[in-house]
Amino acid sequence: MAGYKVLSFDKISSTQTYAHDMVANGTAIDHTAIVAAAQYAGRGRYRRKWVSHHGNLYASFIFRISEREPRLAYAIAVAIAETLISFGTNPQIKWPNDILIDGAKIAGVLIEYAGRFVIVGIGINVHSNPTVAEYKTTKLAKYADVDLTDLFGRLTKNLDKWMTAEFDSVRREWMTLAAGLNRLVKYRGESVELIGINDNGALVVRRGPEYLLIHGDEILM
Ligand code: BTN
Repeated sequence: MAGYKVLSFDKISSTQTYAHDMVANGTAIDHTAIVAAAQYAGRGRYRRKWVSHHGNLYASFIFRISEREPRLAYAIAVAIAETLISFGTNPQIKWPNDILIDGAKIAGVLIEYAGRFVIVGIGINVHSNPTVAEYKTTKLAKYADVDLTDLFGRLTKNLDKWMTAEFDSVRREWMTLAAGLNRLVKYRGESVELIGINDNGALVVRRGPEYLLIHGDEILM
């Protein structure tokens, strides 16, 4: 297993912003993990806030890369889902990498590229779950006894496993865990059938007789 250089904080603005600052000032190295017990300016996808009280997991991982890899999102989602499975839960993945339990969001991922690095921000609700207007939320403590250090250890092991796995096996596992496969979902206001992901990591949906490939957009279930 690859080791991580772990930087831990009690409360900072955002582990993600901290990681970007490290890249900008030249102190970022591959496999750095920035972990905070709480954040006062946690960020989610689509410029949403990520409410970050003490008791949950907030971490940003810096990985050196040679090029952008759209399939990374799936490996990360599978790694988080397997981590949650190891606590006896039954998670599902909502494309591309929201993690749900019983239909409510328990974890989110923010993937951002910066120079020669990709920064993977992961938030997992453990002891509290915020009320969010757009979706239902839940927390891991509802299902299992969780120690945050143990959770972080299991997560890093799974990240290493799935980020180095062949995409074929990532895809197979992602499809097994995906929510809403072969069902109708809303994409840009239209009903489409969720088919799966292709070799390049695009989401495949069916609209009547035609198949569409979706890259980095939002679908509603
Ligand atoms: C989402 O919108 O689903 C993504 C949420 C990502 C939250 C994590 S918490 C650790 C890292 N720091 C942040 O400010 N955001 C990410």
